[in-house]
Amino acid sequence: MGKGMFSESQLERMEREYQDWLGEYQKALQRLPERLERFSTVSDMEVKSLYTPLDIKEKDYFEDLGFPGQYPFTRGVQPTMYRARLWTMRMFAGLGTAEDTNKRFHYLIEHGETGLSTAFDFPTLMGYDTDAPVARGECGKCGVAIDTIDDMRRLFAGINLEEVTTSMTINPPASVIWAMYIANAENEGYDRKKLGGTIQNDCLKEFIAQKTLMLPPEPSLRLVVDTVEFGTYEVPRWNTISISGYHIREAGATAVQELAFTIYDGITYVEECIKRGLKVDDFAGRLSFFWNSHIDFFEEIAKMRAARRMWARIMKERFKAQKPRSMLCRFHTQTAGCSLTAQEPYNNIIRTTTEALAAVLGGTQSLHTNSLDEVYMIPSEEAVRIALRTQQILADETGVANVIDPLAGSYFVEALTDKMEEEAMAYIRKLDELGGMVAAIEKDYPQMEIADAAYQFQQQVERGEKIIIGVNKFPSERPELEFVLRIDDELENFQIERTRQFKEKRDKVKLQKAMDELRRRCEGPPCWENNVMPALIDAVRAGATEQECCDLYREVFGTYTDPGTF
Ligand code: 3HC
Repeated sequence: MGKGMFSESQLERMEREYQDWLGEYQKALQRLPERLERFSTVSDMEVKSLYTPLDIKEKDYFEDLGFPGQYPFTRGVQPTMYRARLWTMRMFAGLGTAEDTNKRFHYLIEHGETGLSTAFDFPTLMGYDTDAPVARGECGKCGVAIDTIDDMRRLFAGINLEEVTTSMTINPPASVIWAMYIANAENEGYDRKKLGGTIQNDCLKEFIAQKTLMLPPEPSLRLVVDTVEFGTYEVPRWNTISISGYHIREAGATAVQELAFTIYDGITYVEECIKRGLKVDDFAGRLSFFWNSHIDFFEEIAKMRAARRMWARIMKERFKAQKPRSMLCRFHTQTAGCSLTAQEPYNNIIRTTTEALAAVLGGTQSLHTNSLDEVYMIPSEEAVRIALRTQQILADETGVANVIDPLAGSYFVEALTDKMEEEAMAYIRKLDELGGMVAAIEKDYPQMEIADAAYQFQQQVERGEKIIIGVNKFPSERPELEFVLRIDDELENFQIERTRQFKEKRDKVKLQKAMDELRRRCEGPPCWENNVMPALIDAVRAGATEQECCDLYREVFGTYTDPGTF
C-alpha cells in the first residue's frame, strides 16, 4: 500500500480506466459540447469534470482526516458533533434602543434560537455616544444604540446570562462593551466565571476589510491581548476573539484569501499573547473563528474542513500547543450577505438555505442565516423567522445533522479541501515573508489582493461568466419589497436625552477616580498590572459612557485614518 488509501495496482488500474473514460468523454463532447468554456467556483478555482481516487492517492486517512474530535480535526471539533449537540442557532440582531433589541431577542428566543448575537449601531461600533455630532442620524439604524451600562441592563432584561451565551459584534470598543456586559451581569448577581459568550474583538480584519477603525494597529493589538489575558484568568467561559473571515469575504476576497488572511490574523493574535507572556495552552482554547458561507456549496465545505486542519497543524507545529483544545478551530458561520439580491428577494431564501446547508456539512458550531429582506433593511420579524426556521428544518427534518462529516471520502471534497489548504498555506508563507500581518497591512498587501479578486469577480458577472439569477440572468426590476425604516429620528432625541440624564446622576468623584486609573493603565507598559479591563469595569460601573472610555483611548493611543489605497 502506498501512503494513501489505495494499492499501487488499484491506482494503476484506475489510471488506465480513467484514460479510457476520458476517451469516451471526448467522444460524447462531439455530440454535445460542454455548456461552459470553463467550470470554476465562485472564487474562480477551476474544477474538473470528474474526481477519482487518483486525485487523493497521496491522502493518508489518519494524517489528513482522522476522526471527529481528534487531531487534525478535519472531520469536526467534537467526537459526537451534532449527534449530541446541534450547532447554536444564533441570529444576529440589533435595532433601535436597547428595549427594541431586547424585544427582538425575546422574539427570537421564543421562536427557538439557542444563542444571542448582538448587532450595534454605527456610533457604538466606532466608539461614539448617540449625542456625538458625528453620530447624527445613525442612532439605532444598523444595530442597537449602547451608550451606558444602563443600556446594557435594558438590552438583556429578562434573559438569564448564566444560561445563554451572548455574542457581541464589536471591535475597536470591544473591551469597553465587554466591561459593560460583565459589570451589568455582576450588578444582576451573576458570577463572571459563569458568563459565556464571545466578543468579536478582531482589530486586524478591520484594517484589512471592514474598516470600523479607531486606534492604530499596535494599541489595537494591545487592547485585544488585554481582553484575552483578562478572559483567561477572570472569565474562563468567554471566547475573547472571534477571528473573522466573514467581512474579508464580504469585501470580495476569494475563499482561499478568506481562509488564509483569517488564519494569519489568528497566528498574529497568538504571537501577541505569547509576547505578553501568556502560555498558549492557557488562552488558545478560547479563541474562536467566524466564517462566511458563500454561494458555492462545495467550496465552502472544503474551506471549513481545511480551516480545521490548518489551524490544528499550525497550533501544534508552529506554536507547540499540547492541549487538543488549543488546536480547535471552533467557529460561527454567517451565510453570505454579499450573495443576496434586491431583485426577486424571495430567491434569497434559497441562497441562504444552500449556504446554511454548506455550513452544517462543513461542521459549524454556531450559525446565523440571513433574512430575505436583509438587502433592503433591518429584517422584519417574518423574514427573521423564516431564516431561523431554515436552520430548524435543516436540523430536524433533513437528516443532514445525523451523520458526522458525511462528505468525507468524496474524491472531489477531499481534493478541494487539499487544494484550499495548499493555496492558503502559500499565502501564509507570503505573509511570513512580508514580516507578518501588521507589516502586510501597512504594505496594503491583503487589501490589494482582495480588491483585485473583487474586481475580477465583478468583471466575470458583467461578462455573464458568473451568473446571479434575477440580476444578470432573467433580470428583474428592483425594488420588489417596500422599504420600511424601522427606526425614526425621534428615537435619537430620546436616547440623547436619556444618556444626558444618566450622566447628570453620576458620582463625579468616583467616576473621575476610575477614569484616572484607566488612563494610568493605558499610559503604562502592557502587563497584567496595567490590564485595562479591571479599570474599565470600575469606570463603566461608575457611569462612564462608551465614548468617554474610547475618547481616553484616542487621547492616549492616537487615532487611525485608513490610507485608502485603491
Ligand atoms: N459534545 C459535547 N459538548 C459539546 C458538543 C458535543 N457534541 N458540542 C458543543 N459542546 C459544548 C462545547 O464544548 C461548549 O462548551 P465549552 O464552552 O465548555 O467548550 C458548549 O457545548 C457550547 O458549544 P460551542 O462552544 O460549540 O457553541 P457556542 O455557540 O457556545 O460557541 C463559538 C460557538 C464559535 C465558539 C463562539 O465563539 C460563538 O458563539 N461565536 C459567535 C460569533 C457571532 O455570533 N458572530 C456574529 C458576527 S455578525 C458580523 O460580524 C457580521 C456583521 O458585521 C455584518
